[in-house]
Amino acid sequence: MIGDGAAAPSCIDEIIADRFACRDFSGEPVGRGTIEQILRVARFAPSGANIQPWHVYVLAGEARGRVSTALREAHETARDEHKSEYSYYASDLPEPYLQRRQEFGRLFYGSLGIAQTDIEARSRQTAKNYAFFGAPVGLIVTIDRRLQVGSWLDLGMFVQNVLLAAAGHGLQSCPQETFSRYHRILRPLLSIPAEQMVVCGISIGRAREGTRGRLMPRADLAEFASFVGFEEQSETQEERTRPWEAETS
Ligand SMILES: Cc1cc2nc3c(=O)[nH]c(=O)nc-3n(C[C@H](O)[C@H](O)[C@H](O)COP(=O)(O)O)c2cc1C
Repeated sequence: MIGDGAAAPSCIDEIIADRFACRDFSGEPVGRGTIEQILRVARFAPSGANIQPWHVYVLAGEARGRVSTALREAHETARDEHKSEYSYYASDLPEPYLQRRQEFGRLFYGSLGIAQTDIEARSRQTAKNYAFFGAPVGLIVTIDRRLQVGSWLDLGMFVQNVLLAAAGHGLQSCPQETFSRYHRILRPLLSIPAEQMVVCGISIGRAREGTRGRLMPRADLAEFASFVGFEEQSETQEERTRPWEAETS
């Protein structure tokens, strides 16, 4: 539901609201030209002082296969030896985030028919991340570790642009922080310089036919937006649209 009747949804509203984390791709190839176009437009993301702190490794074909094989093997045999270089989640998640994460688990594993207590089945599902969920193109996104948290904001905007630009080309995507765990394997495979930190991956491709769309709900506007000063503004607007009343008063 993207409109409330007050303003008609625009085409960009529809692209934003229709995007979802796709975890089942058809594997149909996506050409380099399409990915280049997606990245060319994504680079128009805003960034503080225009420093553009993003870097992406774009993987397809054998290179994608090599990464996938190495990470799947590590996940199967040595998962505990690997750790992300940054913390994605607070260790003690406060409300309402804790309850939202629990709902995510219920919906996500429920949709796959996996019991949340079934550690093995959950691990098999996690392993699919490293095969880019069957997508033909995988991106590994990095940031210079010498930059500060503000630059991570910029990077997030860039990543969202990639997802939306992909959607504009009829492609689905999935951002994946779980790749950051295996940075020690990715580094030599992709020649990632020491100052670059692996932030996430992004799978891009066409959804397998029959894949359901968005599964995850969103909090209502009232839960996250506080409007201030709008009553005065709408009065002013009303006055502007009724100039004859202003003239006669
Ligand atoms: C930065 C980031 C990292 C994510 N990492 C993963 C991941 O590693 N694996 C995965 O399956 N989904 C991952 N997701 C997808 C989220 O689970 C998903 O966006 C969220 O549940 C909302 O669902 P939706 O995107 O379908 O609306 C990630 C999302 C973001 C923004």
